Amino acid sequence: METKVYYIDEKDDKKIKEASRIIKAGGTVVFPTETVYGLGANALDEDACKKIFLAKGRPQDNPLIVHVADFDISKYVKYIPEKAKILMENFWPGPLTIIMPKSDTIPYMVTAGLENVAIRMPLNKIARKLISYSGVPIAAPSANISGRPSPTTIEHCIEDLNGKVDMIIGGEKCEVGLESTVVDVSDGEVIILRPGAITKEMMEEVIGNVFIDPAVLDKLKDDEKPRAPGMKYRHYAPSAPLTIVCGDINRVIEYINSKTLENNMKGIKTGILATDETVNEYKGSLKISLGSRKKPGIIAANLFDCLREFDKIDVDIIYAEGFGEEGINLAIMNRLKKAAGYNIVKV
Ligand code: TXA
Ligand code: MG
Repeated sequence: METKVYYIDEKDDKKIKEASRIIKAGGTVVFPTETVYGLGANALDEDACKKIFLAKGRPQDNPLIVHVADFDISKYVKYIPEKAKILMENFWPGPLTIIMPKSDTIPYMVTAGLENVAIRMPLNKIARKLISYSGVPIAAPSANISGRPSPTTIEHCIEDLNGKVDMIIGGEKCEVGLESTVVDVSDGEVIILRPGAITKEMMEEVIGNVFIDPAVLDKLKDDEKPRAPGMKYRHYAPSAPLTIVCGDINRVIEYINSKTLENNMKGIKTGILATDETVNEYKGSLKISLGSRKKPGIIAANLFDCLREFDKIDVDIIYAEGFGEEGINLAIMNRLKKAAGYNIVKV
């Protein structure tokens, strides 16, 4: 199929309207959000949503997030739980997805058969205009081939989905760079199923206790079922196996340097995912810095792009420095752990 690719900004109403006509007609459009690019289709149209699963190669049991541009979501949910109202008032529009009991208008194709639907109001203006002009909510997972790192630039989307969708629009790099925080409020409490830029600490300030689903921190056992089906898949992965090295930073450097040397002698090309503070301490040449540890927001924004970079420079094995688990670091570590298939060395 031929994919139209338009580099546009939020003022380009003509192109955004053209994209909205594709959505209305049951087609697929890749568009920017503040977190990552999304692969969108009319959330009320089962056949349109099926195209999303096909284009991405996404497992059918992994539900989609429904994107809205309006606070009136009463058509899509059975009711809005009290805690959801507080979160919506404080963090919408923005990178927070809230799981609530679904109404009959949302097809099971979108929720993968679940009784709850995930809803988010993005901050990005192109995204919100596209939803408004379409006149329907837009179901959209990240616009990557399933398993690959989520796309934070239009080039990542073209790389993965050119020829598989009707249109790709955008151009700007996503500011947040990690997917939205996903919380489940359907049982009364707020439970984080996927950490993101809206942190546990930020939500606790307005709502009291917030809980973290065990699947966020550790690998699930084979018989355990995560509350967010997507959390069970290996994700965000570069082609080469990735190991996270945690501990005192000097020992981390020492460990990675000795491994690099060992690998060099065996002819194994070693990639290193470092930070500005440490990158010059590594002996290897195939190293990428995520940014300064003093600016974790920038590290978050660069993470997926750096993981994709390693595929281009052809490494056999990658070592990454670990991060803490406070604030946005929780989200950075969660994505790194998934990319590493929970392969972590403590030094
Ligand atoms: O930032 C984002 O959220 C991006 C942009 C495009 O908005 N979208 C995104 O979608 O990351 P996706 O499909 O890649 O991730 C959605 C996650 C998955 O882990 C999925 O299992 C979970 O949310 N999810 C969606 N609906 C759910 C539901 N009804 N119950 C539990 N988990 C759900
Ligand atoms: Mg995704």
